[in-house]
Amino acid sequence: MCGIIGIIGNEPVAPRLLESLRRLEYRGYDSAGIAVQTAKGTERRRAEGKIRNLETAIEDEPLAGQVGIGHTRWATHGAPSVRNAHPHHFGQVTVVHNGIIENFAELKAGLMAQGEVYDSDTDTEVIAHLLNAELATGAPLRDAFKATLDRLHGAYALAILIDGEDRTILGARRGSPLVVGWGGDEMYLGSDALAVGPFTNRVSYLEEGDWVVLGQNSAEIHDAAGNLVNRPAVTVSASAALVEKGSYRHFMEKEVHEQPESTQRTLTAYLDPVTGGVRADIKAGVDFSTVSRLQIIACGTAYYAGSIARYAFEKLAGLPVDVEVASEFRYRSPAMMPGVLAVAVSQSGETADTLAALRWCQSQGLKTAAVVNVHTSTMAREADLLWPTHAGPEIGVASTKAFTAQLSALLSLAVTAAAQRGRINAAEEGRLAQVLLGAPGLIAEALGMDGDIVRITNDLSKARDVIYLGRGETYPLALEGALKLKEISYIHAEGYAAGELKHGPIALIDENTPVVVIAPDDELFEKTASNVQEVAARGGRVIMITNAPQKVPTLSGDAAKSLKVIQAPDCDPFIAALVYSVPIQLLAYHTAVHKGTDVDQPRNLAKSVTVE
Ligand code: F6R
Repeated sequence: MCGIIGIIGNEPVAPRLLESLRRLEYRGYDSAGIAVQTAKGTERRRAEGKIRNLETAIEDEPLAGQVGIGHTRWATHGAPSVRNAHPHHFGQVTVVHNGIIENFAELKAGLMAQGEVYDSDTDTEVIAHLLNAELATGAPLRDAFKATLDRLHGAYALAILIDGEDRTILGARRGSPLVVGWGGDEMYLGSDALAVGPFTNRVSYLEEGDWVVLGQNSAEIHDAAGNLVNRPAVTVSASAALVEKGSYRHFMEKEVHEQPESTQRTLTAYLDPVTGGVRADIKAGVDFSTVSRLQIIACGTAYYAGSIARYAFEKLAGLPVDVEVASEFRYRSPAMMPGVLAVAVSQSGETADTLAALRWCQSQGLKTAAVVNVHTSTMAREADLLWPTHAGPEIGVASTKAFTAQLSALLSLAVTAAAQRGRINAAEEGRLAQVLLGAPGLIAEALGMDGDIVRITNDLSKARDVIYLGRGETYPLALEGALKLKEISYIHAEGYAAGELKHGPIALIDENTPVVVIAPDDELFEKTASNVQEVAARGGRVIMITNAPQKVPTLSGDAAKSLKVIQAPDCDPFIAALVYSVPIQLLAYHTAVHKGTDVDQPRNLAKSVTVE
C-alpha cells in the first residue's frame, strides 16, 4: 500500500526523502514521487516503477530545499503512471495520500462544473482542489484544512505542502496510519515508524480523525472535532539496522532464516521456560473458560495461521472455533452468540478488512483480541486484548516470520485455553509448553533442508500449475504453501485437503503438474500416503515433505523416477505445521529466485492492505 514521508529538516531533503521511500518499498508500490519547497515554489519529481527511476529523475533535475514530502503509490484509482503518481498539485496545494476517498467522483464533478481541470485519474487530486478552494476564500490555514477534511469520506493518511507556508507540513489520518516523528530541531511525518526510522526513533501515533500542523520543531495535533490534543511521544525499537538485508539476497530469505529467533521471542512471551507452563500474566489477561466460541478473522496468510490454530483450540481445549476471511465476514451479517471472543490476526494490524471486522464485532458488544506484529498498530490499540507476536519488522511482502510468530502465539494460547477449561492438567500443560519451546530448534534444523529444496526448484520453476496437499493442520499449510508459491513465483498453485483430491482436483493430475505433499509422520500419514499412490497412478510428479522417508510408498515406473522426498526433522504433531512452514517457504522462495522474479516486491502486491 502507499507509503508517506514528510520532512521539515535542516539538510537537503531530496536524498532523505529517497532514503525513507526505500524503507517504505516493502509495502508494495508501482510509482513514486517527491515534492520539495524550493526557491521557485513547490517542485515535484515523479516516476513510474521503482525508486531508482525516481532517483534518476532527481539526478536529471535536482531539487534544492530542506522541506518536502514523498510517496510510494500502489495504484487504486488510475493506472500506475507518472501522471497518476503522487504528489498531486493544484493551486497552492501539493498532497500525498494513502487510502481511498470514496466520494471523490461527486466532489470532483462539483469542482469540474466550476471549470477546474484535473491532471490525473486519481481520487487524491480532489483533495488539492478542495483545500485550494478553501484557502482561496481567505480562510485561515487550520480552518481551511479542517473544512476540507470534513468533506472527505473514506480512508486517508495525508501529507500536504502549501505554497506560502514555508517550513509547514499538514498531516491527517482516518483509516490509514500516520505517525509524527520528533527530531532535535526537525520534524517528520510517516506512514509508520520505519519511514522516519533513519532520522528518529521518537514518534507520536496519530489517532483516528487526528490532523496535525507540523512546524520546524513543533506538532500541533487536533482531534476530529478540532480540539488540541496531546499524543505522547514514544520511543520505538524499530532501529534502522533491523530493516537492512545484511548478507542475504532478499528480505524474504533473511526473514525465513530469522525464524528460530522470532518464534523463540514470541513463544517465550507466552510460555515460561523456567516454570515450564503458560506465563501467569497471559493467564491473568484472559479466561477461556468463560468463552463460548472463538471467531477468528484475518486475511491471506494470517487467515491460514488462524485456520491451523483452529485445530489446536478445538482438539486440545474443546473450544469451538470459526475462522473466516475478514472481507467476507464483515459483509455477511454473521449471527453471533453470547460469549464469543473475536480474534483478529494480522501482521500489520492495519489491514482494512480485518480492522473493519474487528470494529463490527465491537459494535455487537463482543469482546475482541488482536494477534498483531506491529504493537502500535490500530488493531493493537483498539482491541480489548492485545496478544503480540514478536517477529520484528517484516519487510518482504510475502509473509514468513510473521506467520510462524502467529502460529507460535496462537498455539500457546490454545494450551492456555486447554488449561483454563480443565482439558489438560499441569503436567500436560508443561509438556506441551516444552514441545512448543522446542520448535525454534527444529525450525533451525528445517532451515538445513535448503540444499535439498534448491535441487528440486529447477524442475518446479518450469511448471505451469502446482498442487499442494495436506491433511489435518497441514491442510491450511498446503493452502499457505500454494499462496506463497503463486505470489512470489507467479506459478498457479492450489492447495487441497488430501482427502478431497478424488472429489474433483484429481482430474488435473498429469505428468506436468507437480504435487507437493506435506506429510508429517502422524496418525493421518497412512491416509496421505494412499493419496500419493492415487497421484502416482495417474502419472503425477510427487514432491513429498516428510520426516518418515522410510514410510513413503514404493512407486513404480515414471512415478518412481519423478518422486522427490524431502526429509523434514522429526517433531511432535502438535508443532508440525510450525516446523513444516519452513520447507514450504523455502520451496516458494527458491523457485521464485530460479525464475528471477522480484521476490521482495512481487508484482501487484502490497504489504499492508489498507484499502478494501
Ligand atoms: C501473503 C501475505 C498476505 C497477508 C495479508 C494480511 O504472504 O502477506 O496474504 O497475510 O495481506 O496482512 P496482515 O497480516 O498485515 O493483516
